[in-house]
Amino acid sequence: MTTINLNGRSVTVDMPDDTPLLWALRDGLEMTGTKFGCGIAMCGACTVHVDGQPTRSCVTPLSAVAGKRITTIESVGEARVGATVQAAWQKLDVVQCGYCQSGQIMSATALLASNPKPTDADIDAAMSGNVCRCATYVRIRAAIHDAAKSLA
Ligand code: FES
Ligand code: FES
Repeated sequence: MTTINLNGRSVTVDMPDDTPLLWALRDGLEMTGTKFGCGIAMCGACTVHVDGQPTRSCVTPLSAVAGKRITTIESVGEARVGATVQAAWQKLDVVQCGYCQSGQIMSATALLASNPKPTDADIDAAMSGNVCRCATYVRIRAAIHDAAKSLA
């Protein structure tokens, strides 16, 4: 049993301590917005925020997040930065198949929360762990700049 703060609510997960957070979210709590891509921290599809930091939930055991504040794609839009990122994503029509995009938005939101005016190099560095098989990288970068402008 592990208690986490998930999207502002205290939630108890009845799964072994070493269960990856991604499995707890998807299979235990039926929150399927966070995606499974590689399972080995190589693609970024499973990115959530743990105490505000972008975190690969596929390699993060429940024991490591007990009592921590977890935000997923289901609620990232409730805060201003996340809502602005999502609006920019829609405005610039970033998404293609969509599979990687929960993770992309979580990483982009964490970037803008810590660096409100990122350069191209900052964006490339922050987003380099988020793979997109549809190669939406140019639109992702443009949407991050657009969101930064809106937030300024
Ligand atoms: S599924 Fe976690 S990084 Fe790929
Ligand atoms: S939009 Fe298809 S994998 Fe990124």
